[in-house]
Amino acid sequence: MILGIETSCDETAAALVTRDGEIRASVVSSQAELHARYGGVVPEVASRRHLELVTPVIREALADAGATLDDVDRIAVTQGPGLIGALLVGLSAAKAIAWSRHLSLVAVDHLDGHVASLYLEPDPLEPPFLCLLASGGHTLLLDVRSHMEREVLGTTLDDAAGEAFDKGARLLGLGYPGGRAIDLLAREGDSEAYDFPVARVPGLDFSFSGLKTALLYAVRELDEAELEARRDDLAASYQRAIVRALVSRVRAAAAQAGREQIAIVGGVAANSELRAALPEAVAAPLSLCTDNAAMIASAARWTEPIPYPRYLSLDAYSSR
Ligand code: KG4
Ligand code: ZN
Repeated sequence: MILGIETSCDETAAALVTRDGEIRASVVSSQAELHARYGGVVPEVASRRHLELVTPVIREALADAGATLDDVDRIAVTQGPGLIGALLVGLSAAKAIAWSRHLSLVAVDHLDGHVASLYLEPDPLEPPFLCLLASGGHTLLLDVRSHMEREVLGTTLDDAAGEAFDKGARLLGLGYPGGRAIDLLAREGDSEAYDFPVARVPGLDFSFSGLKTALLYAVRELDEAELEARRDDLAASYQRAIVRALVSRVRAAAAQAGREQIAIVGGVAANSELRAALPEAVAAPLSLCTDNAAMIASAARWTEPIPYPRYLSLDAYSSR
C-alpha cells in the first residue's frame, strides 16, 4: 500500500491506497475552525497544528485500514504548492518514516494530486480529458493527455474561484471558509436578483476580482436589515456569476482541445450549482474534492520514487 500525507494548507490528512487505486483509509483533520476567527488561514498557526496532528492522523489512517507500517511500501507526500511551513511538516514526517522503514518516497505536486482524485476506485476516469481544477488557491483548465502529461490551457489572472467564494462569503458575513456556506444559502435565494458581471477576458483565462468588487458595492448600498433580507439573493446571484464563468470556459476549452470527456476537481468542484450546470462532466466524489491524502497517494502511482539518500534533501515549494 501507499501511505499518502498531505499538509499543504489547513487540512492534516493521511490515507492508505493500494497500487490499484483502492482507498483503504482516508483521514482528514480540518483546522478550519481554528482559523475561522481570523477570517482565513494563518500560516504559522497552521504549521503548529500540523505538527500536533500529523502523527495521530497517520496512526488513525493505519488503524482504519487495519494495517501497520509493515504493509506500506511507498510514502507519497505533497511537496508543493502550498504554505512552506505547513508543507515542511508533512515532508519531514514522510522523510522520517521512509528513512526509518527503508521505504521509497514520492514527492507529489498538489495539483497533480487533485487531478489524480479522478483515478481512484470504484469509478476511475481514464485520460485523455479536459479538467477544471478549481480550489482555494488555483483555477486551471488542464488538457490531461495521460496520467503523467498535462498542459495548462487557462488560468486565473487574479483571484482563484475558491478565493472568490471565500471573499464573497466574508462580505456577506458568512465566515470562513465560505464556499460551502454560499452554496447552501444560494439554494434559498433568487439567482436573477442581481446582475453581477462575468469578466470578459480573452482566451481561456479567468478573472474574478471585478465580480468581488461588484458584490462589495451591492452590499454597501444595504443597511443591516436589508442585507439580512437580501443575503440569500446576493449569494445566489454571486454564485451564479462564478459558475457561469467556469462553465463557459470549460466548454470552450474542451472544444479547443478536442476533448469529449470533461472532469472537475478541487474544492469548488463540490459546489452543487457547478455540478448541476455541467451534467456531462465527471466530478470527483465530494469527499475527494477538498484537500485529502488519498489523491496524493493516487498521484504517486504514476510518479517515480526518489532514491535514498537523495530524498532527504527534498525541499518544499510554495508555488511553481
Ligand atoms: O481544494 P481545496 O480544499 O483547497 C485548496 O487546494 O485550495 O479547496 C478549498 C476551496 C475553498 O475556497 C472553499 O471555499 C471552496 O474550495 N469550496 C467550495 C465548496 N466547498 C469548498 N466552493 C464552492 N462551493 C462549495 N460547496
Ligand atoms: Zn487543494
